[in-house]
Amino acid sequence: MRTLLVVEASPRGEHSMSRGLTQRFVEEWKKNNPEGRIVERDLMKTDLPFVNLPWLGAYFTPPEHHTPTMKELLRLSDELVAEILSADDIAIGTPVYNYNVPAVLKAYIDHIVRKGKTLGYAGEGLVHGKKCTILMASGGIYTEGSPIRDRDIATNYLRLILKVIGIENVTVVAGGNAKAVDMGQTTREAFLQKFDSEVVAAAKA
Ligand SMILES: Cc1cc2nc3c(=O)[nH]c(=O)nc-3n(C[C@H](O)[C@H](O)[C@H](O)COP(=O)(O)O)c2cc1C
Repeated sequence: MRTLLVVEASPRGEHSMSRGLTQRFVEEWKKNNPEGRIVERDLMKTDLPFVNLPWLGAYFTPPEHHTPTMKELLRLSDELVAEILSADDIAIGTPVYNYNVPAVLKAYIDHIVRKGKTLGYAGEGLVHGKKCTILMASGGIYTEGSPIRDRDIATNYLRLILKVIGIENVTVVAGGNAKAVDMGQTTREAFLQKFDSEVVAAAKA
């Protein structure tokens, strides 16, 4: 039985394009894995603190010396890491904000890149055998041939950080030109339909 971890980062609920793509991915994944288990990690419903000094103190203290306070500081991070480690497939639905991932997704990443858990002490990735699909929505288009291809920071960053922790099987569904929906030039349904075959293929692979 496979487990799919779904990480959502958009604050826009039912109006979100990335959530629409992710929802479709999950539908297809369920068809392909009728016995599969789905774990939802909605970052809009997770109180993710930024890294601060007490957190770093706990992070750099060997676990055998953790005080109850340190354990509590790392509790959420431990939980997020455990979710990743127990998943076979990971879907990350995210908007592009200011050419990168939203701050909440960066905060999530700061919690899951953990020395000794997801990243080895020699810098080697420890998360193996996972497949990750990124379902991204952006106002602009950054794919091959775009005149602003050099601004495609978000997908490059996500591919890089996933590779750092050992996840190299990554598919990106780049939902570009979402601004056409917000400007009333097309509908959300038509926008999502444009990427449907890519989403279906990603859920199958
Ligand atoms: C604060 C903010 C910053 C944004 N920055 C960018 C950007 O740098 N590049 C881009 O292509 N779209 C940008 N957008 C547009 C969003 O990527 C687009 O609205 C997308 O649909 C958001 O994802 P969602 O619909 O899943 O919430 C920005 C939107 C907001 C609200």
